[in-house]
Amino acid sequence: MNLRSGRLKGQMKGEVADFTSSLEFDRRIFQADVRCNQAHTTMLIEQGIIPSDIGKKILKALDELEKEGITALKLDSAVEDIHMAVENYVTSKIGPEAGFMHTAKSRNDQVATDLRIALKEEIEEIEKELLLFIKITIQMAQNHLDSIMVGYTHLQHAQPTTFAHHLISYAQALKRDYGRLYDAYHRMNLCPLGSAALTTTSFPINREQTAKLLGFSGPMENSIDGVSSRDFIAETVFALTLLGTTLSKISEELIIWSTYEFRMVELADEFSSTSSIMPQKKNPDVAEIVRGKTAVLNGELVTILTIIKSLPQSYNRDLQEVTPHLWKATDTLHSALRITREMLASAEFKDERGEELARANFSAATELADLMVKEGGLPFRTAHQIVGRTVSTALDKGMKAEDVDAQFLDDISQELTGKTLGIDESIVKKALDPQEIIGSRKVIGGPAPSMVQEVIDNLREFVDNPS
Ligand code: ARG
Repeated sequence: MNLRSGRLKGQMKGEVADFTSSLEFDRRIFQADVRCNQAHTTMLIEQGIIPSDIGKKILKALDELEKEGITALKLDSAVEDIHMAVENYVTSKIGPEAGFMHTAKSRNDQVATDLRIALKEEIEEIEKELLLFIKITIQMAQNHLDSIMVGYTHLQHAQPTTFAHHLISYAQALKRDYGRLYDAYHRMNLCPLGSAALTTTSFPINREQTAKLLGFSGPMENSIDGVSSRDFIAETVFALTLLGTTLSKISEELIIWSTYEFRMVELADEFSSTSSIMPQKKNPDVAEIVRGKTAVLNGELVTILTIIKSLPQSYNRDLQEVTPHLWKATDTLHSALRITREMLASAEFKDERGEELARANFSAATELADLMVKEGGLPFRTAHQIVGRTVSTALDKGMKAEDVDAQFLDDISQELTGKTLGIDESIVKKALDPQEIIGSRKVIGGPAPSMVQEVIDNLREFVDNPS
C-alpha cells in the first residue's frame, strides 16, 4: 500500500525523490529498525492492542527479514526510508494486516530510537578500541620508564623527562576521551519509542516494556523531547572530535619526532611512504593522513550543530540530514583510532638520541636554579637570574651545558649579587644530570620512574574495570 495514496495524488519522482530519501544512510539503522518493530509489535500483542494472531504473523515476517538481511528489501527512493521499506517487506509477506504494525507508532519515534540503538553499538565498539589503545600506551610506557628525553614548551627544549612520562600524558587524554563517550552513552540510554509523532498515543502502550526489550534503561519522559532531540548525536560527535584531536596531536608528534632534526623516533616502514622522485625519502604519510582526516570530525560536528540550532521543537525533516554526518564522523574516527594505535605501537623510540637531546641544550637550568634555592638559600627569582646569565654567558663562550661547574656559577653570582654561592661541585654535577633531575621529581604526576609506575598501575586498574 502506498503511503502517499490517501492524501496525495502526485508522486515524488526522480531527483526530488532521491534528494529527499534517507535510504542510503538508513542502511546503518536497518537492524535497529527491525528490532524496534519486533519490540513494538511484541508489546502491542501483550497489551491486547492488536490481535495476537496477526501480531504473530508480523513477528514471523520480521524474524525472516532479520535472517535474510537488508538485501531482502526493495530499496528505491520512491520508498522514502528504511521504515517504509521494512513495512513494505512485511506487507509483501502477510498482506495488508501488516498495517497493524504501525499502530501507536510513528517514523518520528522510530528513527530516534533506531539511531540511539545503532549509536550505542558504535560507541561500545569505539570504547573497546580506545581501551586497547590505552593498554598499549601503558605497556609502552612500562618499557620506557628510564628512557630519557627532553620535554618541550613552545617546541623549545624545556626540562628533562622520560618517554614513559610523555606516553602517560597521551593515556590520560585518552582516558578522558573514554569518559566523555561513556557519559554520552549513559545519557542517550533512554528510549523515545512510544513518543509516536510527538504526543504519544491514546492506545495503552507499555513504554517501559519496549524500552526494556530494546536494552534501554527506561523510557524518555517527554514525548516532544523524544522525537525532537539530537543532542545525543552532537554530544557524541563532540566527544569523537576531541578524541580525534588527541589522535591528531599524537600523529603530529610522531611526524616531528621522526624528522632528521629530532631523530627521536623511527616509524615502522608499514606506516611510511617514499617519494616517487626522491629515492632517499621516508615520509610519515599515515600520520599526516590521520592529522588531515581528523579534521573531518570538526566539520561534521559544526554541520550537526548548525542543522539543529534553529529547529522548532518536535520533528522536522532537517533532522534526517544529521544522520549521514554522524556516520561519517564515527567511521572516520574508527579507522583513525585503530591506525594511530598501531602506528604508535610500532614506532621505535631512540633512547640514545633522547638522552643526547636532553643533555644538549641547558634543559637542566630549572634544576640548577632550584639547587641555589635549596643549597644556597637564595630567593628563586635571584637564582633564576643567575642561571639565566650563566646560560647566556656559556652560549657566548661556546660552552656546552656540561661545561658549567661550581666555579663558573660562583663567578656569575659574584658579578650579579656580590656573593659567591659556594655550592659543592658534586652537587652541581648532580643537578646537571638528566637522570638525577628526573629521579628527583617524585611529586604526584611527575616523571620519576616510581611515580610514573604508580600512575601506570592506576591506569591498568582503570582499563580492567573502566567506568
Ligand atoms: N527518514 C526520516 C529521518 O531520518 C524518518 C522520519 C520521517 N518522518 C517523517 N515525518 N517524514 O528522520
